[in-house]
Amino acid sequence: MRILVLGATGLLGRALMETSAWRCDAVLGASSRDADLRDASAVHTLVARVAPQWVILAAAWTDVDGCESDAARAMAVNCEGALNVARAAKEAGSKLLFVSTDYVFDGGAPAPTAPYEVDHAIAPINAYGRSKAAAEAGLREILPQVCIVRTSWLYGIGGKSFPETILRAAASGKNLSVVEDQRGRPTYNRDLADIIAKLVRSNASGTFQAANSGACSWFELAQELVSAAQLAVTVSPTTSAAYPRPAARPAYSVLSLSSIRALGIEPRPWQQAVAAFVAERNAARGTPDQAVEKLAPASSGRIA
Ligand SMILES: NC(=O)c1ccc[n+]([C@@H]2O[C@H](COP(=O)([O-])OP(=O)(O)OC[C@H]3O[C@@H](n4cnc5c(N)ncnc54)[C@H](OP(=O)(O)O)[C@@H]3O)[C@@H](O)[C@H]2O)c1
Repeated sequence: MRILVLGATGLLGRALMETSAWRCDAVLGASSRDADLRDASAVHTLVARVAPQWVILAAAWTDVDGCESDAARAMAVNCEGALNVARAAKEAGSKLLFVSTDYVFDGGAPAPTAPYEVDHAIAPINAYGRSKAAAEAGLREILPQVCIVRTSWLYGIGGKSFPETILRAAASGKNLSVVEDQRGRPTYNRDLADIIAKLVRSNASGTFQAANSGACSWFELAQELVSAAQLAVTVSPTTSAAYPRPAARPAYSVLSLSSIRALGIEPRPWQQAVAAFVAERNAARGTPDQAVEKLAPASSGRIA
């Protein structure tokens, strides 16, 4: 089976390129340098050239505050770009897996008392969430068999993420103030990549939600990170109101995992994933060249 990963240079894309869960499949990766999602013709040419059985769309404009200040660009990349991919996939006879977000939910009053199920009404409260929600709807129209995988609080080696920011700040000896009034499920990029590979291998279609199990606040996540990395700094709780940002964030965006559990997939608890991430980060520290080398394992390749 031939798989094309769009967004192969991103946090999730890198893990998708590296995971062994594909087994003997040919996995080809592309980034914006190969085809900008907004360029329908370039996307069409790329997908037609590779002619994959599956396209994994992990490319997006993920700067949530940036999207808020340029909602038109957010919509152009995250929605119109995704629809360009869907049309190209349809023409090539490829299946499509689209990575979406917990930010399609509002997380607001009345405060949810249980994790969001896949069929809960979506009501995004920021431009990024609106662009991904619009993409979900448009993709289902173009490709009714599309596989949509919502995830949340993604982190890993080789990209910007909250855990990386916390560990860098803590390593410099700074005491940290972290918001405790937003609750979600952290997701280690390697665990999500393995789940996505399983969904593809089982020919899944429909909407799924995938993250590590358990839930926490950003404050609790920071505490766990600092403890796992054995850093001697103090982490104090604060509120979102004390740290206003351009884009509103849902106070609660815990995704129910029942859709993947129904397929026998049980993600490990977020604390175990944090420990694995810290161990991977410690092992990789000071060897950035090796991390780049690992982008192209034996059975995989880059387009460009
Ligand atoms: N990060 C999170 O916390 C989070 C949470 C929930 C859901 N998600 C979703 O998970 C997926 C992966 O996110 P991520 O954090 O891995 O993203 P990321 O690290 O920000 O990487 C984004 C990827 O998208 C590509 N890209 C950006 N703009 C593009 C464009 N106009 N045309 C073509 N490619 C473009 C980038 O390519 P270049 O390197 O060439 O720029 C890069 O490969 C996304 O769909 C995101 O919405 C992320």
